Amino acid sequence: MKILGIETSCDETAVAVVEDGRIIHANVVRSQMEEHGLYGGVVPEIASRRHTEQIVAVTDQALCEAQTTLDRLDAIAVTYTPGLIGALLVGVNFAKGIALMTQKPLIPMHHIKGHIAANYLAHPDLRPPFLCLVISGGHSHIIEVLSYTAYRVVGRTRDDAVGESYDKIARSLGLPYPGGVHLDQAASKGDPSRYSLPRPSIPGFPYDFSFSGLKTAVLNQIHNATQKGERVNPADMAASFQEAVCDLIESRLMAAAAELCYDTIVLAGGVSANSGIRSRMERACVAAGKQLYVPPLSLCGDNAAMIAAGAYHEWQAGTVAGMDLNAVASMPIA
Ligand code: KG4
Ligand code: ZN
Repeated sequence: MKILGIETSCDETAVAVVEDGRIIHANVVRSQMEEHGLYGGVVPEIASRRHTEQIVAVTDQALCEAQTTLDRLDAIAVTYTPGLIGALLVGVNFAKGIALMTQKPLIPMHHIKGHIAANYLAHPDLRPPFLCLVISGGHSHIIEVLSYTAYRVVGRTRDDAVGESYDKIARSLGLPYPGGVHLDQAASKGDPSRYSLPRPSIPGFPYDFSFSGLKTAVLNQIHNATQKGERVNPADMAASFQEAVCDLIESRLMAAAAELCYDTIVLAGGVSANSGIRSRMERACVAAGKQLYVPPLSLCGDNAAMIAAGAYHEWQAGTVAGMDLNAVASMPIA
């Protein structure tokens, strides 16, 4: 079964063709990063306009690369939640138009479920159940993936998402937009023990995160140094912050895996591209005798192949949307 996936929830216009939730025939991602970079962050109005301008060309390119046509596809899948409402609406309405024209089923997809499904594309042997850490610009969740379509959230951030913290700290350290990847690169050249930073925890909720206290501690140290006419060392601060994030993630995830008896741990979302988090979790999983799956870098960030991959299983479970499908800015995964 071949599914056309459409993803426009933030600043990537993406269209893909995926077969049986596992085989990528095309995966086109057109990023608006450069333009949003002028403003230091995603400007929702610009994102919607660029999606509107790009979506037809990106779809044409995906069909061309997959050497197929709309009438030879079996279904149309689209991200309808969560995300920027105006950006989501472009993809949802475009998908509805194609589904109506071709009389193919329309499959609604949750963006975070898509991030998890990115791993099915890269790892043919991966099957639920497993424990998944989803870390992106807007989400930080520890999720039990009970089946291809059933999820249970066991831990979440109480405030900022980890990607959000990376981006804000990167900006304060004067690193270019988008900050996460640049902070990661800076961290690899720094001393992780140079600055002392907190590892916040929430009493009674061992798998929850709080990144805002950690972020504020970093920003305070940067501002205090500035007030004294000094400057923190960006690489050392980046390394100290990344070390704290790795400590928080490793402790929560490994405790949840032990308690809930999971031998398979999966990372997903844009921040799973982080080299420090990947290598720390690889070491922790080897030491604990657990199997770790991470997406290849090309499938960590937003893309439409992950949407089509997840949609295959939603379709098999009988999930189909009508022509009244609407975009929803936020919705829990379970
Ligand atoms: O999943 P994603 O592409 O979009 C959302 O659904 O939010 O994640 C984007 C986030 C951004 O905050 C970006 O800075 C972060 O992922 N990111 C990274 C790295 N690459 C991307 N954060 C840390 N280290 C990286 N290497
Ligand atoms: Zn995402």
